Amino acid sequence: MKLQAHADAAESRKTQVNEKGIIKLVTNQPERYSLAREFYRDPEIYERDIARIFMNAWLYAGHQSEIPNVGDWFLFELADESVIIVRSSENEINALLNVCRHRGSRICVENKGCSKILICPYHAWSYDLQGQLRGAAHMDESFDKSSISLRKIHVELLEGMVFINFADKPSSFAPVRDGLAGCLSPYRLENARVAHRQAYLIESNWKLAVENYCECYHCAPSHPEYSRGHSLAWPAKLTEELHEELLGRAASCGLGTDFVNRTYLEAPGFGADFAYERYALIRGHVTGSEDGKPLAPLLGGIRDYDGGATDLQVGPVTYALMYCDHVVIYRFIPLSIGMSECDITWLVNGDAEEGRDYDRDKLTWLWDVTTHADKVIIERNQQGVNSRFYQSGPLSTMEEYTWNFLSWYLDTMKKPDERPG
Ligand code: FES
Ligand SMILES: [Fe+2]
Repeated sequence: MKLQAHADAAESRKTQVNEKGIIKLVTNQPERYSLAREFYRDPEIYERDIARIFMNAWLYAGHQSEIPNVGDWFLFELADESVIIVRSSENEINALLNVCRHRGSRICVENKGCSKILICPYHAWSYDLQGQLRGAAHMDESFDKSSISLRKIHVELLEGMVFINFADKPSSFAPVRDGLAGCLSPYRLENARVAHRQAYLIESNWKLAVENYCECYHCAPSHPEYSRGHSLAWPAKLTEELHEELLGRAASCGLGTDFVNRTYLEAPGFGADFAYERYALIRGHVTGSEDGKPLAPLLGGIRDYDGGATDLQVGPVTYALMYCDHVVIYRFIPLSIGMSECDITWLVNGDAEEGRDYDRDKLTWLWDVTTHADKVIIERNQQGVNSRFYQSGPLSTMEEYTWNFLSWYLDTMKKPDERPG
């Protein structure tokens, strides 16, 4: 008891010091500068990132078309957590923690599969698709199977996109659903399907990957393929002209104009439940392809190419690029303090057939080549930040959204801990 009390006191002192240290780092952070080195390297700060951000945010897990049949499942993995996303016998989607209720083994060990019953490979306890324990051999007579089930976390479907949340009482998903209804409805993504999905490992802290995604300052030097067709990499004057043209075309293409706006840069900014912006592609480009030409059948109720694309954000680490004929969903996840994963999903119309209606290599070319380039620059960024001589540097006016992310992050780090106890 005495030893335990001593350990507890030491632990609380450590937390106190660390808490003060973090607050000091946040307080000393200059406006519109990159973060101090500790934010990318300190294990305590990393644990705080996981606890405050990833255990509370709505996170994109996948698309419902990946698990069309009862018993289909795939894994969502983040830091030390693993979640089984499974279609239940009731045709609902459940998110079950992949932690056996016997002695804690992982139950599903492949990335995806199909099974009517989930069997732990260690001592063969078996669970149904609701997570309820069904079988456990050689247990005491008094053992009550009905009281044991895998822990479920919250799931929400947004037009077929599966979002999960680890929190006991997550923030309501209704504002996301309501706020994005106009923006998403022309695409009818609940009828889309996954044409390709790929995970890219990036040897960096997750924040460097998000910071990079949030700005297009680097697009001209690093992404010639992207810059050819996307106006965000071009001077503002041209962007404005193209934007006017886009507004003139959108309605006749079935896209409406009410979601052509600049919500990204308006209050409440980063950390809000969602953000979106539709912007023009460069003339001669109708989608995100190598030659600017169509890649796949038009999505949902879209009748023609309006020459625009929508940038979308849901929660802090899920983004999408919505072209008229395909949608590219990005999700950034930390695997450890110095390793992150960029998971990309390419969605096409549910009826589209590979080979007949689209070519997978052509469909994925732009964002594959762009993500490989991003991986290189983000990893070099981390290498520089690792230097003892790294110092915070000033941001450009083209990095306004990155600063939105960083200031939201700093606020999240500094808030008093609301967890009970
Ligand atoms: S840990 Fe799963 S059955 Fe023993
Ligand atoms: Fe990039």
